[in-house]
Amino acid sequence: MTSVGIDAIEIWTGNLVLDLPNTFAPVKGEDPEKYTKGLGLYTSSFPDVYEDIVTMGANAAKRLMVRKGLTPDDIGRIDVATESAFDNSKPVSTYIAGCLEQVFEGDFRHANKGERKFACIAGTQSLDDAYNWIKAGRNRGRAALVIATDTALYERGDPGEATQGAGAVAMLIDEDPDIVELSTEQGYGSMDETDFLKPNQQFPSVDGKRSMQVYLARMREALEDYESVAGRTHPDNFEYIPFHTPFPGMVRKAALLGFRHMSRDTEIEDELAEEIGRQPREEQFDTWDEYEEAIRAYMDELKTTDAYREWYDRVIDPTLDISSVVGNWYTGSVHIARTSALKAAAEEGTDMVGKKLLVGSYGSGAQAEIHAETVQENWLEEMDALNIDEQLDARYEISFDEYELIHDVHNHEKEVEVEELTQPEEEFVFTGWGRMNERR
Ligand code: HMG
Repeated sequence: MTSVGIDAIEIWTGNLVLDLPNTFAPVKGEDPEKYTKGLGLYTSSFPDVYEDIVTMGANAAKRLMVRKGLTPDDIGRIDVATESAFDNSKPVSTYIAGCLEQVFEGDFRHANKGERKFACIAGTQSLDDAYNWIKAGRNRGRAALVIATDTALYERGDPGEATQGAGAVAMLIDEDPDIVELSTEQGYGSMDETDFLKPNQQFPSVDGKRSMQVYLARMREALEDYESVAGRTHPDNFEYIPFHTPFPGMVRKAALLGFRHMSRDTEIEDELAEEIGRQPREEQFDTWDEYEEAIRAYMDELKTTDAYREWYDRVIDPTLDISSVVGNWYTGSVHIARTSALKAAAEEGTDMVGKKLLVGSYGSGAQAEIHAETVQENWLEEMDALNIDEQLDARYEISFDEYELIHDVHNHEKEVEVEELTQPEEEFVFTGWGRMNERR
């Protein structure tokens, strides 16, 4: 059986950018370093008034199809992963297919279309669905288009407001892929949780602190489950470890946990013991609280060690470059992290062929999934073809007043006449609910 995986990636950022330390923090009366040092965020992407999950997804997919020279006949499946859907009946993939049919010859009449939902992990679940469909031999030689698209907006005043973002990632899943091969080995950590949810509401109800604990608990279970099928992991087995990145500060915690877990009973543990002066498990504790406090103290020491810092800078930090300037893209977030790492490797001239990535996906509600990917021969051409820096540089920077207006428009509290605005050419735009087909 041939290999199956990600053949191409394109991203589409929301067209606006908000400067967090210089524009957002001063109005909120917060120290800018809470954003840059604490959360690890500098700017966030926002959707302009003529952008939504359909336009962003369609724009990313159009770029991908044009670049790969594809027509609708080449695609047998379109899955959209989103937690910002506006239609409880028609999947967002039908809206996106409708947009694409306006610019490509032919149609997606014989493609299976769907929508996947499990908070941010739905993007990875859609990749799995596409992988399984191809491996089962049901694809008739055609590829699958997976689009992860979200407007991650929070209620104004909610602590989550600092971590907002908007954008789409389109991925082509095919046989003999150009970027990474997926595998059958996966691990899951999944439990019913209610720390982050949107029951019939525009913005999520969030218990932020609890959501971070749940993320770490599920991620740890997924790693253990992954090891039960793939064998012991070691921190040096993987060139990069892209995690779901609601904000880089969250990944700093996940990385610490992952490193601690993967380095247990290895030579790294001896190195750490020398630097820190003790092994954590040599101590005995009378109560759970004492144990937790000791683990926290150990982790605080661990993150200052040379062994950890060197590994973090090499394996984790490059996965955060894009996220730190676009914010949370929910379903697209972990796919941004993978792209960020490969883009960094391309810029540094690292030979990635055959190297492994360990990908940690997560969705509130809550589920984590861990799998490994192997980088393929043509990865560099694919990374060189991306225009991420141009897209990020072209974003229009908004003032705080403009931010509030945009936020109200996307919350359906204000309307703006789109026709009166200067809209970009050659891009799908939303021109009103009464005229859904007039996206162009
Ligand atoms: P907060 O309470 O406003 O922030 O909200 P904080 O006071 O906890 O500060 C954040 C960090 O900045 C802390 O670092 C502070 O110490 C530090 P930590 O202790 O955690 O390492 N800090 C500073 N550092 C330097 N200089 C300063 C300074 N001040 C503070 N002056 C919170 C933070 C994450 C709770 C909030 O943003 C939130 O609710 N976010 C939304 C929920 C979220 O993103 N959760 C993450 C896990 S769940 C997930 O990832 C799923 C999700 O993507 C959705 C889905 O799956 O669908 C969200």
